[in-house]
Amino acid sequence: MLAKTPPMGWNSWNTFGEAINEQVVRDTADAIVEKGLKDAGYEYVVIDDCWSLRQRGADDRIVPDPVKFPSGMKALADYVHSKGLKFGMYSCAGTRTCAGYPGSFDYEFIDAKTFAEWGVDFLKYDFCYKPRLANGPILYNRMGMALKASGREILFSACNWGSDEVEKWIRSIGAHMYRSTGDINDSFNSFKDIAMSQVEKLAYSGPCCFNDIDMLICGMHGKGNVANGGCTDTEYRTHFALWCLFQSPLMIGGDLSKIDDYNLDLLKNKELISINQDPEARPPMRLGHGDRPIFFKHLANNEYVLAFFNFGDRDSWGDVEFYDLGLTVASGYGFRFRDIFTGEETGVVTGHLSTGIKSHDCRIFRGTLVEK
Ligand code: GLA
Repeated sequence: MLAKTPPMGWNSWNTFGEAINEQVVRDTADAIVEKGLKDAGYEYVVIDDCWSLRQRGADDRIVPDPVKFPSGMKALADYVHSKGLKFGMYSCAGTRTCAGYPGSFDYEFIDAKTFAEWGVDFLKYDFCYKPRLANGPILYNRMGMALKASGREILFSACNWGSDEVEKWIRSIGAHMYRSTGDINDSFNSFKDIAMSQVEKLAYSGPCCFNDIDMLICGMHGKGNVANGGCTDTEYRTHFALWCLFQSPLMIGGDLSKIDDYNLDLLKNKELISINQDPEARPPMRLGHGDRPIFFKHLANNEYVLAFFNFGDRDSWGDVEFYDLGLTVASGYGFRFRDIFTGEETGVVTGHLSTGIKSHDCRIFRGTLVEK
């Protein structure tokens, strides 16, 4: 079974866009292993759009661009596999990809077979240039079946940006993750708005099919294909914490040959990753509103997370009254929490928990319920 927990890996789009090539993919696979990201759980190395020639070949198959990929896709897949990683590619449900390369519309079965022959383990499937009369559920179902018929186990990553109430049918068509929003860019407002747009829809996300709120921008610092001013390290931490709390797939979007230590450590943060990979995949309850949302999430093994965010421009305070969670002082129980970033323990707290939160920062507490 694929995607028991949110898939983790790297995708070329955020940094490289059109400038993708086999050397970048090889260097990235090397970096994932050498920099400890494989050990942290990152597995899929995914080539996004712009990998092929503009026309199909005489045999109707999509042809990898021989300048960008001189060794061919099979050799590249073999290299990625030799590192103990998995290999991902990209196509589109329409007649062309979003960047104008051949799409898989009406070629779904032959393309799926070609991907399988190359050793592809993951397919991101976009939604541009879709004929107006064709609908999303049918097109995604068709590719879902084509992948299953391909003879290889291939993770199906749908990308229709949340159109057609995707969360309601995407699990039925066999996808393992689904993009639910428009594209992220490297800015605080972009990741904040994307994450907050999905709060009410996270109940549709779970084992075998996760709501994908787009590739990560951690450490991009205003460079690359989706550059838009960049974020501070504090903001990248808030971004990663939201993606982990919402159990989105974690697809790194930065240039791993140049990633700085702060963001590399962040992407490997064991506490956040274990929240992201929690096997029960329960959506968080939202408590605080406006610019200072607070989330409470049940984890497996009787653990809980209480997460405070401050999206405002000033340092601030957050407070949770435990009776808002159903826990009264009379129950005789309280929480014993640990701040996952500082390691600081709260002791047994009853009644409420308040904490300061710096502007654009977050505080994440993890703990258990204990008898006083
Ligand atoms: C769409 C997708 C992006 C990326 C580009 C490639 O915009 O949402 O994630 O795949 O296409 O052209």
